[in-house]
Amino acid sequence: MLFKKSIPQLLAEANESGEGTLKRSLTSFNLVALGVGAIIGAGLFSLTGIAAADNAGPAVILSFIIAAVGCGFAGLCYAEFASMIPVAGSAYTYSYATMGEFMAWIIGWDLVLEYALSAATVASSWSQYFSQFLLEFGIQFPDKFLHGPWEGGIVNIPAIVIVCLLSLLLMKGTKDSSAVNNILVIVKVAVVLIFIALGWGFINSANHHPFIPPNPGEDAVKAGTLGFFDFFSSPDFGHFGISGVLRGAGVVFFAFIGFDAVSTAAQEAKNPQKGMPIGIIGSLIVCTLLYVLFSYVMTGLENYTKFAGDAKPVATAFAQTGYTFLNRFLMIAILAGYTSVILVMLLGQSRVFYSMSKDGLLPKIFSDLHPKNQTPWKTNLIFMAFVSLFAGFVPVSDLGHMVSIGTLFAFSLVCIGVLILRKTEPNLARPFRTPWVPLVPILGILVCVLMMASLPIVSWERLAIWMILGVVIYYVYGKKHSKIRNEYKNSGQQ
Ligand code: ALA
Repeated sequence: MLFKKSIPQLLAEANESGEGTLKRSLTSFNLVALGVGAIIGAGLFSLTGIAAADNAGPAVILSFIIAAVGCGFAGLCYAEFASMIPVAGSAYTYSYATMGEFMAWIIGWDLVLEYALSAATVASSWSQYFSQFLLEFGIQFPDKFLHGPWEGGIVNIPAIVIVCLLSLLLMKGTKDSSAVNNILVIVKVAVVLIFIALGWGFINSANHHPFIPPNPGEDAVKAGTLGFFDFFSSPDFGHFGISGVLRGAGVVFFAFIGFDAVSTAAQEAKNPQKGMPIGIIGSLIVCTLLYVLFSYVMTGLENYTKFAGDAKPVATAFAQTGYTFLNRFLMIAILAGYTSVILVMLLGQSRVFYSMSKDGLLPKIFSDLHPKNQTPWKTNLIFMAFVSLFAGFVPVSDLGHMVSIGTLFAFSLVCIGVLILRKTEPNLARPFRTPWVPLVPILGILVCVLMMASLPIVSWERLAIWMILGVVIYYVYGKKHSKIRNEYKNSGQQ
């Protein structure tokens, strides 16, 4: 039998108040800020240069648009769920209502890859910008304490420190964290706008030509001298040309990860029916506009070939403007941007485990709230250790791929969930409806699966290992302690 949560049951839980429940303190503006807080970060400030130099050239702008369209489909599905089931836990909770407990567990477990590991990924990149910032003041941070053992160092200390500081802030309270986040978001959006406004006048249109640099393999396929499958497995695939634009979309997809973090805070939203769709779609639209303009200016300021292997492409491009005195501000703002991503991701992670623990699938320690601050502080503490371990020791690129594959998997399941629930519960109140169902969810699934396919095989293997571990834990612990199962059993015995 499929153990599912009913929507009325979920709504009743969401409306619980008093001790042991989360506080409803976030407005629509806070929610958009939360989304933007999770979205703009390492993806924009580091990967734009890499994707331009290695994959798409100036057409990285198109890569951003393709990734945005893919996320848009998934975002519309998220918005329907989040307005209908405004309970903490995001995709985990939606799956519980649609595909049953086992799938819900799978997705909750998978979300650790998105939230916890993206916090670790961005913390790891944070430390690189931090060391650059120190250099501005003549301070050289020892290299061995900036990288883990697989990258020739010992441990990434700044990454661990920032994770610990932000975890402590989260333990203090969602409202304080949200206030800090609002400031960080304003600073980082300001730097993106300043970069666009100041850089615009210095765009050298010659840098935008050729817009899509040629791909010799693609040309050979067109001329009929190379078979498509030979091209697909050749090193030319994904390196400029149309295939490069597509691979670039897979790379910059990372820059959009996080819009769904808004939905993890549904239970803390003042008016979730209205706030959730505004938070999710609004932050996605704001970021897409900024990304397109930003990448247009960046590839116009400096030739895309100059970004190859560059750890700070934004500074390289900005140097063309002559406003070099703004460099320090730029670095601080970028650090602020990364910081808010880590903060929101850590918040999202704790909320997902909070929900899973409330349902009995994880030990109670994950849903224990602090008596005064009403935050799941023990979860924050546990993830502080877990995320620090990854941020301190695992290479950034490995982490990044794990985040992408885990997130795409979650997005696909949410799209499937919308399709299922429209069939099984057609009459439920949906304050926000995904348009053109089933087309939008189906396109969402297709785009996500395509992007997953573009990731290295080793990420698939790691995803499989993580999932097998999850299944074992479910059978050893979750299934036995599941609240719904136990309620069902007890009602049968009476
Ligand atoms: N979207 C987030 C970033 O780019 C994860 O840092």
